[in-house]
Amino acid sequence: MIPFLRRKGPARREEPAGLDLEKLPRHVAIIMDGNGRWAKKRGLPRTAGHAAGAETFRTIATCCRDLGLDYLTVYAFSTENWKRPPQEVSAIMDLLERYLKESIEKMERDHIRLAFLGDLSPLSEKLRELCARTEKISRGYSGFQANICLNYGGRDEILRAARAMARDCAAGLDPEDVAEADFARYLYTRDIPDPDLIIRPSGEVRISNFLLWQSAYSEFYFTHVLWPDFSKKELYRALESYQKRSRRFGGI
Ligand code: FPP
Repeated sequence: MIPFLRRKGPARREEPAGLDLEKLPRHVAIIMDGNGRWAKKRGLPRTAGHAAGAETFRTIATCCRDLGLDYLTVYAFSTENWKRPPQEVSAIMDLLERYLKESIEKMERDHIRLAFLGDLSPLSEKLRELCARTEKISRGYSGFQANICLNYGGRDEILRAARAMARDCAAGLDPEDVAEADFARYLYTRDIPDPDLIIRPSGEVRISNFLLWQSAYSEFYFTHVLWPDFSKKELYRALESYQKRSRRFGGI
C-alpha cells in the first residue's frame, strides 16, 4: 500500500507567497455556504450550486493536503438542513453518493482519508454503506484527513455526549471525575484536535450550530466569496490572516 503524506513536511507544490509553512494550522474547518446564491446568480438550479460546491471541496481538500495540514472539516449537511425542499435534500444526498463512489476509486491516488461526523442513521442504506466503506479504507492509511459533517449539529452532538456520559454515570462513573478532556471523548471529534481556524464564506457571520464545543478557541475568517468560487488563493488569504493572529487561549 502506498504510504500517505507525512503528517508534517514541506508543501508538495508551489509555495504560496506570504504564507509561513512552519506556522500553518493543524486543523481548518469550513462552513461551505453560498451554493444556492452562486447558482441563482447564474440562473441555474440550486442543485448546480451544490455540485459546484462539491468540486470546490475537492480542490480545497487537495490544497490542504498539499500544504501539509492534518485535518479539514466541512459542514456538508446539518441537522436543520432536512427542512429544505425534498428535491434539494435528495440532490445533496445523490451528490454525496457520487462523490464517495469516486473518492473510493481514487483514494490511493488522492491520499485523502475521509471520515464522517454526525448521526448517519437517517441516511439511505446506500449512503451509509458508502460512508462505512470509505472510513474502513481510510483507516488503513495515515496522513491528511478530511471530515465531512453529515446530519451534524453542534447542540445535537453535545446532547448525545451528555446522554452517553449520563449512562456511564448511572453505571458507576463519578461525574466529579469527568474533566473537559474526558467529556470531549464522547463527541464525534473524539480523536481529532479542535479546529484552529474556522472559515465561513458567503458573507454570513454566524456559527450555525457548527462545532460548538470544539470552536471555543478557534480563530474565525469570514469572506463574501461564495463557496463554489472559493479558490486556493482564498484559502491562502485565510491562512495568512490566521498567521497574523495572536492566540492566547485566555492567557496573556
Ligand atoms: C450551504 O449553501 C450548503 C449546503 C447546505 C450543502 C453543502 C453541500 C455540498 C457542497 C455538496 C456535497 C459535499 C461534499 C463534501 C461532497 P446554501 O445552499 O445554504 O447556499 P445559500 O445560502 O446561498 O442558499
